[in-house]
Amino acid sequence: MKYEIVNATLLKKEEIATGIFDFLLECPSVSKKALAGQFVHIAVPSKTLRRPISICDADEKTIRIVFQVKGEGTKILSESKVGDKIDILAPLGHGFSVDKSQKIAFIGGGIGVPPMLYSARQCDNPVAILGFRNKEMVILEKDFQEVCKEIYVATDDGSYGIHGFTSDILEKIIDEIDGVCACGPMPMLKVIAGICKEHDKPCQVSLEERMGCGIGACLVCACKTYDKDGNIEHSHVCKKGPVYNAEEVVW
Ligand SMILES: Cc1cc2nc3c(=O)[nH]c(=O)nc-3n(C[C@H](O)[C@H](O)[C@H](O)COP(=O)(O)OP(=O)(O)OC[C@H]3O[C@@H](n4cnc5c(N)ncnc54)[C@H](O)[C@@H]3O)c2cc1C
Ligand code: FES
Repeated sequence: MKYEIVNATLLKKEEIATGIFDFLLECPSVSKKALAGQFVHIAVPSKTLRRPISICDADEKTIRIVFQVKGEGTKILSESKVGDKIDILAPLGHGFSVDKSQKIAFIGGGIGVPPMLYSARQCDNPVAILGFRNKEMVILEKDFQEVCKEIYVATDDGSYGIHGFTSDILEKIIDEIDGVCACGPMPMLKVIAGICKEHDKPCQVSLEERMGCGIGACLVCACKTYDKDGNIEHSHVCKKGPVYNAEEVVW
């Protein structure tokens, strides 16, 4: 897939939870070819390295990104104004591979929830399982309701939705689904991959490694995976991932 550097126009901006921003970017040449699970690498003024952010949604003309302010880079990005040009290198990485006709559970944990929206859109019968720390951190619930007939929202502290983890819900419905696509913290992904293995269901996971170049040239994003012969290798999450079959990951 060919990536390009584009000056995207910020059309809309909203803080949808404390420190979590929803940006709508006009960039038709990227949005037309963006695949679910891919990411954009964003140049932030005064920072040498770009910041990787997943594609949350896309249409003919726009892409949507939802990001949490973590450090200086995302703070500066959050201060962008409607009308500003945002320099993106995109679309990058390999996304989720989804069989439209299957019943797939799209599982997101925390800031791993956004990429699951565009991913769920690729499926005729998607199930969403979304997990958050507490009620204040719940994002994109309405968007998922529009895309998925079946949606479960869980919070760690029980302040909203089901009290518990996404993995608790997956265990309850695993026999009703054909497979899983997931993005979120590593411990969550590890438990989900384990449940899928036990029940012999295919599972794809999106890994979030620290990144430098975003295009396979710097090794910053190296992560331990198995090659096709079962040998351990260091693969570039930015190029071979960020989406892997769970069986490929050295947990
Ligand atoms: C493929 C991918 C998709 C992502 N999608 C999203 C998303 O949709 N929404 C969202 O809120 N966050 C997402 N992240 C995490 C996001 O990239 C980091 O939170 C962000 O880069 C932090 O930058 P900073 O300058 O604010 O923080 P700092 O900690 O100051 O960053 C310092 C450096 O570390 C890198 N870095 C720090 N944390 C991460 C991290 N977790 N992953 C990758 N690089 C990191 C930064 O790019 C920067 O080069 C994604 C990460 C990856 C790898
Ligand atoms: S970020 Fe440079 S090789 Fe992946």
